[in-house]
Amino acid sequence: MQKSFGCSDPQIISYVEKTFAPEDEILKNVKETSIKAGLPPIQLGSMDALHLEILTRACQARRAVEIGTLGGYSGIAILRGMDKKGKLFTCEISERHADVARENFKKAGFTKNVEILIGPALKTLPTIESKGPFDLVFIDADKENYPAYLTWAEKNLKVGGLILADNTFGFGHIADVTDDEEIKGLQEFNKKLASNPRFRATILPTGEGLTVGVKVK
Ligand code: DHB
Ligand code: MG
Repeated sequence: MQKSFGCSDPQIISYVEKTFAPEDEILKNVKETSIKAGLPPIQLGSMDALHLEILTRACQARRAVEIGTLGGYSGIAILRGMDKKGKLFTCEISERHADVARENFKKAGFTKNVEILIGPALKTLPTIESKGPFDLVFIDADKENYPAYLTWAEKNLKVGGLILADNTFGFGHIADVTDDEEIKGLQEFNKKLASNPRFRATILPTGEGLTVGVKVK
């Protein structure tokens, strides 16, 4: 699956991909091994992974948390945005996904920089609170729980830290009136973050929508 970029002009997409070359051999291989292992092809688009690396670098993150490891594609982007001492704690509910990700983190040279927390994130996140406060939290897992992950991030981010969340256009349905629990979770997340005085937040118009918030107090 080719994830859209947020701009649908094919000439511009081609220009951007040529100019910024978002995907090297390692990331290409991560995608291939993930597909071969039967993981759902829902990792970030290549430009979104680059956005993640650059945002991580821009806030000089050294301790990051990811919710939803999948095959490690986005985790590698975050790790590339940190220095050699950077540490990523990444939550994954599926043992099988974690096995694929572990191998991919190893191939990318990050075995020492990453800890995969296996199980539901709402159970594993409390076990890393003593390692915080964190510089960055990236949310990209079960959409119903985005508001709960926001509550956790508000408590465990440092002032100046970044909260990032994928898929916040709700697969095109974020503006709908709906009973869908995933969409309702995403709507509540955006609303709560946008109106929280401890954050300044925006939504970047990537293909999927990427909400970005800075904890200001
Ligand atoms: C899908 C895409 C995502 O980025 C995600 O986090 C979950 C699901 C999808 O396309 O189904
Ligand atoms: Mg996603």
